[in-house]
Parts: sequence; structure tokens; C-alpha cells
Amino acid sequence: MPDTLTHPTVTAVTLDLTINGRRQRVQADPGARLLDVLRDGLMLTGAKEGCGAGECGTCSVFVDGKLIKSCLMPAAKAQGAEVETVEGLARTGDLTAVQKAFHKTGASQCGYCIPGMVMAATATLRDNPDADIEEIKERMGGNICRCTGYSKIFEAVEIARDVIAGRLPHTALDPEAVGNSFIGHNTRRLDAPSKVTGRLRYAGDMVMPGMLHMQVLRSPHAHAKIVSIDTTEAEAYPGVHCVLTCDDVPGEDGFGVFVEDQPVMARDKVRHVGEAVAAVAADSVRTAREAMALIRVEYDELPGLFDPEDALKSGAPVIHDYAADNVVKHIPVRKGDIAAGFSAADVILEESFSTQQVEHAYLEPEAGLAYVDHDGVVTVVSPSQNITHHRHMLSHIIAKPINKVRFIMSPVGGGFGGKEDMIYQGMLALAAMKTRRPVKLVFTREESFVASAKRHPSRTRCRMGLTKAGRITAVEFEMLSDGGAYGMSSEGVMRKAAILSCGPYEIENLKVDTKVVYTNNTPSGAFRTFGGMQAQFATESMMDMAAERLGMDPFEIRRVNMMRAGSLTHTQQKLASAAIDRVLDAAEGASGWEKGAPSVRGESRGDLDGPGTRRPCTLGARVRETATDRFRP
Ligand code: FES
Repeated sequence: MPDTLTHPTVTAVTLDLTINGRRQRVQADPGARLLDVLRDGLMLTGAKEGCGAGECGTCSVFVDGKLIKSCLMPAAKAQGAEVETVEGLARTGDLTAVQKAFHKTGASQCGYCIPGMVMAATATLRDNPDADIEEIKERMGGNICRCTGYSKIFEAVEIARDVIAGRLPHTALDPEAVGNSFIGHNTRRLDAPSKVTGRLRYAGDMVMPGMLHMQVLRSPHAHAKIVSIDTTEAEAYPGVHCVLTCDDVPGEDGFGVFVEDQPVMARDKVRHVGEAVAAVAADSVRTAREAMALIRVEYDELPGLFDPEDALKSGAPVIHDYAADNVVKHIPVRKGDIAAGFSAADVILEESFSTQQVEHAYLEPEAGLAYVDHDGVVTVVSPSQNITHHRHMLSHIIAKPINKVRFIMSPVGGGFGGKEDMIYQGMLALAAMKTRRPVKLVFTREESFVASAKRHPSRTRCRMGLTKAGRITAVEFEMLSDGGAYGMSSEGVMRKAAILSCGPYEIENLKVDTKVVYTNNTPSGAFRTFGGMQAQFATESMMDMAAERLGMDPFEIRRVNMMRAGSLTHTQQKLASAAIDRVLDAAEGASGWEKGAPSVRGESRGDLDGPGTRRPCTLGARVRETATDRFRP
């Protein structure tokens, strides 16, 4: 991650470079990377750091005409070189054809990958102006985008190629004329020009005069009592301005969207690997890291809890004193008469499903900048997806009235729900208050992995009763989710999972229980669909298995059960309208589905039994027959 370019105890080297056509002389630490020199020394922040390991391509620049990943290149190796960054592409003020094409197709969403993508696309067309789509994909394969699905990016490169070659007129890059209304037209993102030129500043790109840099000491243990924390040596280290622990929290040290169970930094014990224990604010990232190594923490390890089913057993380790049963939240939904519903069934299917933990992996790692302004307002700039809630939580943490707390949402370089839960903003605010200086924190990719919330891993048992005509008579649905060490958005996720559990199907009798428990795993939180994905995976799989079992077309069994205008939802709201029939028609048409096929499940993929082998999917074979299984299709 970006460091300041020189360190007091290290002799700087002088680099002579030609950057975007101008000769520049820069002082740099001998260990600095080219990316550090560009970002910290020259403020060319169009080159981003997404991974720091040469995997994502957000830091792509040209060195002597060759596209390279600047996070991998020692700055000293660029001595005397000509370097071209994304800021150098549109030097005349007019966007290049590639940049205009990215704007035209809507290729930039969060935009964090886009400067690197523009550089890779430019390199592709410079190397082969006639590159076909396969070559474009191949040549741009070193750049990752988490938002777009790539199709708009590739479309943009093809349009730019054809405009440059004269096969398309330049007007092909112009905005679509929309007349008096945008409705029915492709509209352009207002922020696209700043994204394709690298001018847009994300939190990690921001600097303020006198700014300090924060680093966070994290727990190596999943569950341990903190016996002592000694910060004496770290505080005395030259260049350090403050060291924070939980003792520095002036207000209520517990926050969370639904349950206030999370301290700003670990208090008394740590509950997951990577939990923040202490933080250092210093003149440079490097100094902060060196001081952090001097903090002495004595731990007394406790038994860990890593399986959500174990969390419910009697005698299980207790993660939070307030929840002796380790339950964060249980959401029950009841409708109709479940016993009567199963009695009316001709066939009953029962199956279990599990989904795994998923990392959001947004390309912009967490970052923030905090300062206290001239009116004493504590201000945090960060890519928060839940800014009002964060502001209220911070006001309690720092014991200041709400009008003395400001949150500014910086551009979000990908979130997908992962930036809804507050993690680090409290530490930044405390450091700014303690030092009266702006303080910045940028996570490494590794920190982002260990310290940010994930999609809830889930285990679901579903029992479904149906008539031989495919009508669902009853559903019993139990989901157990691993909430990890803190509650975060778990309650909302469980509520959504419960509400969506039985899909868009009208079911008279249902019994739904979604439950989330504490463990010592990385906390779970918001992620696209907010619990809906885990629930739908179980329910839609059951629908396919039921269709197969009853010899019905999978679209047909859904039409038999779909909610219509006037249907009562699982939580008893009467629907004024419903469009599921149109969704099914569209999906059936677009997929080219062969009507009447009894199974949507084909061959399994991958190397299951050794190279070159394939075998049929056997999921259906595990459908269990029950005593009420009277119907044999
Ligand atoms: Fe590519 Fe967001 S637009 S990562």
C-alpha cells in the first residue's frame, strides 16, 4: 500500500523520469515501487492499488511503451524511463477514442478498475489495431473488473478499434440524442469522464496537509482473552503521533446496525482472527508499521467456535456474554396449518443445502480519511454504503452530539453490500481527535479479506409437500447461518432470508425458521440479495427436484404455484399485482428451453473422477421418500 516516499532513517534515491512527456526528478525510498512514486510523489492517482500483487491490473501504466503493473516494478528499475499513465492519455483535453467508447457503452460502473482497463485497452489497440474480440479478451485478461461483467468493456474496445480504423465514423462515439426525455434512451453516466481519465479521487487517493497515516494491529487468534496491551515503545517511536486502544474510546464502545455488540478495537477479548486490537497514527505508513511491531499484547487463548451447529450445543463456548445461547437472531414465519398441509400432500421431498462464505472482493480496498474541522466537527470521508447509520453510531462512540459528526461518502470503488457495515471509521475519528491532524487509513488486500464482513454461510433443510398435479401444499424451511464474531447486518439478512424463503410461490401452509449464531469466524454481513440468494438456492433447487420427481416441466411447476394478483405472501401481504408469469415467459424464451424436459440438471462439470471423465449429476438420487410418499409418477 502507498507509503510516503522517503523515510527518516533511509537514504533516498533520486529518480529521473519522463512522466507523460515531462522530465521529472523524484526522491524515493530505495524500496519504493513505481506505483508509490506515481501516487505519493507525483499525485498521479489514476493508477490504483487493488491487490498489490500484480493480479488485478488497476495499477497498469506504460513504461517505455510497454504495459506493466506498477505495483510489481521497483521504482529504481524505471530510472531514465518514459512513463505514461492514464492521466497522460488525454493531454490535449479531449478524451481518446478508447476513453470516449468506455463512456459511450457505460463500461465504467464503480470505476475503480477503469483507469487500468483503459490502459490495457489502449495497449491492445496500439499493439494490434485490428485485434478481434478473442484477441481483445486475451490481451486484457490481466485486468479484473468486479462490476461490469466485462461485456460493456469489450464492446467499448471494439467500437474504439473500428473508429480508429475508420470503419465507424467518429460520431459513433457521440452521446445518443435523447430529446426532452431520457426514458427509453441509453443515458450516460455523469461521472464517466472522471473515471476514464483517472481524475476521480477515491478515499485512498485523497491527501490533506499534515496528514498522518494509520496502521492497525490485528489479532492472530480467533478467540482469546486480552491479558495486557503495552504501547509504551510504540508511542515513543520517532514519527508516531498516537497509539490507540479501546481505552481511548470516550463514549459507548459498542456499535452495530441491529445489535451494538462490536467495540471499536477489541475490549477484554478478541473474537476473530484479524480483529483490530490497536492502531498507530504516524508520519508515514512505514513508520506506523514499524511502531506497530513494538506493541506488546499478551493473550490467553480460549476455546474457539467455528461451526454454527456447535454454537447451539449445550456447553459451547460463549462468544458474547449477553447471548449465552450464541443466537444473534431467530426469525420465525408461520402461515396456515403445516400438519394439515403435509397430510394433503401426495409426495413429500426433503433435502439439505449448504452455501459457503463469500468475499465481496471489491477492487477498492477499504479506506478512509478523518479530520476535525475548524468548527470542531469530526469528519470522516469513506466509501460507506450506510452513511447516516454510521454517523449516528460514531456520535455515540466519540460522545459528541450528532451536529458535531459528519460523514462524507467518497466514491465507492465497489461495495456489493460489503461497505454497509462500519469497521474502521471509529478508529480514524479517534486518531483525528487525539492528534488534531487528518489521518488516513488504506487497507491492504489481506486486511480487506480478514477484517471485512462476508456473505453468510448457510445450512438449510427444506421439506416440501406437493399434490401429484405439482401444487405445493406445505413447506417447512429451516436455515442456520454463521454470523461470525459480530452481529453486523445479520438480523436484517435473516429477516430477508425468511421473507423470501419460499420463493415467489403461493403456499398456504408454511413454517419458516431462519437463525443466525455467533462463532469465531470472520463476521458475516450484508451482501447482494441480503440472504435471498441462500434461501432461493434451496427453494429453487427443491422446485427442480419436485418437477423431476413428478415428471413435470420445470417451468410448468412454477406456473402452477406462482403468486398472482390477490395472492397472500408468506408474511400475509395481499399482492395488488404480480409479474412472475412474464418473468417465466421471458426466461423460457431466452433460454431456448425445450418444453416438457423433466430435468434442468445435466451432466456435472469438472474433473470429478479423474481427467477426461464425466458423470451424471446425482443430486436427485438423494431425495428421500417418506411415509406419506403415496404417489409414484
Ligand atoms: Fe470495474 Fe467496478 S467498474 S471494478
